[in-house]
Amino acid sequence: MTTGVIGVTHDEFLNMAYLNDNYLKLKAGYLFPEIGRRVKAFCDANPDAAKRVIRCGIGDVTEPLPAAAIAALHLAVDEMAQRDTFRGYGPEQGYEFLRSAIAANDYRAHGLDVADDEIFVSDGSKCDCGAILDILGDQNRIAITDPVYPVYVDTNVMTGHTGDADDSGAYGGLVYLPCTAQNGFIPEPPQEKVDVIYLCSPNNPTGAVASRAQLEAWVRYATANRAIILFDAAYEAYISNPAIPHSIYEIPGARDCAIEFRSFSKNGGFTGVRCAFTVVPKTLQARTTAGEWRPLHPLWNRRMSTKFNGVSYLVQRAAEALYSKDGQAQVRQLIAHYMGNAKVLVAGARAAGLTVFGGENAPYIWVGAPAGITSWEAFDRMLNEANVVITPGSGFGRNGEGYFRVSSFNSRSNAEEVARRIQTLKWR
Ligand code: MLT
Repeated sequence: MTTGVIGVTHDEFLNMAYLNDNYLKLKAGYLFPEIGRRVKAFCDANPDAAKRVIRCGIGDVTEPLPAAAIAALHLAVDEMAQRDTFRGYGPEQGYEFLRSAIAANDYRAHGLDVADDEIFVSDGSKCDCGAILDILGDQNRIAITDPVYPVYVDTNVMTGHTGDADDSGAYGGLVYLPCTAQNGFIPEPPQEKVDVIYLCSPNNPTGAVASRAQLEAWVRYATANRAIILFDAAYEAYISNPAIPHSIYEIPGARDCAIEFRSFSKNGGFTGVRCAFTVVPKTLQARTTAGEWRPLHPLWNRRMSTKFNGVSYLVQRAAEALYSKDGQAQVRQLIAHYMGNAKVLVAGARAAGLTVFGGENAPYIWVGAPAGITSWEAFDRMLNEANVVITPGSGFGRNGEGYFRVSSFNSRSNAEEVARRIQTLKWR
């Protein structure tokens, strides 16, 4: 019998390799490449307008690396040029010099009990947020906020933790926690039992921050339900309100129920350099299928040793330099620059009569589109009429519909120009 595949018999055909069906459940494309595709189509069709386009879509940094990081990179390159200081494979968990700089500066200096070897250096929080599923069971009931950073959802879909998406894009099997203007975009713990909860504060995309009381409620919930919080703190450096926790470990009990993800992308401008870290406390335990409690730390250590070769020596030296006195001052300057942009953008959007959230303790501005205008309509209007790229809120989930996100990662002159153009837009 023929099979349509040249040289393959019917029996052989039935034995062909299988793909991961879960990938076929994913919606068309990852949000940011999809935006890139639409912007490219617009620019190709409108070469003159293309020259005016300002990108406030993906949260990618625009300013040069801090001088301390540059100096450390140069030094590390010189070391690599000499036989006696050359480095080959490094430790998969990260060099001790960086792990201890992180634990000492980001945690112990703030009275938080985190040991050097609870820090795992990696090439990005996005990667770690996805990879963490390797060490968690498939039986877990997963809660995510809506709107949400799409990586949390898509990686669960890829791993087979969900059913299909319905017409609204919601996946069967996930517990969605609505984030709305009414709850300040920070949801309360659910009534039902979930096992794994993704929280992101300062939040991408809404720019909201969780208060101490809200995080305490989550840690209480996780403790009572023996659940695990996956806490994404990639934007913690943008917190200016001293009452807002920077780390989940500021909440008593969190060492027993939370994993924290942090990144050098948004504080040191490392989006193109690639360095981040994940904290897995040794006291954090989860259940085996047989019902025994076991620590997760050795599993993550094993996972990193097997599937990861570590971040390059050069990059880890650059990350370490961000903790030097000069490095810290330069990081503060970078953050002040982007938050200055945020202020300009918030003022511009408000002057345009739009409802604006975020932008105070986060580099993202969450803007309500005028009534009756969908997120993608707002995207098209901003692109076609103002030549500004934003991110449609609905790309982050059902509750993002009617909103759009403006990133403040840009030059000051671009931020000012966007603030001006947004006011010239006639929505009706
Ligand atoms: C975003 O724009 O949401 C972020 O840049 C994405 C990321 O950090 O991966």
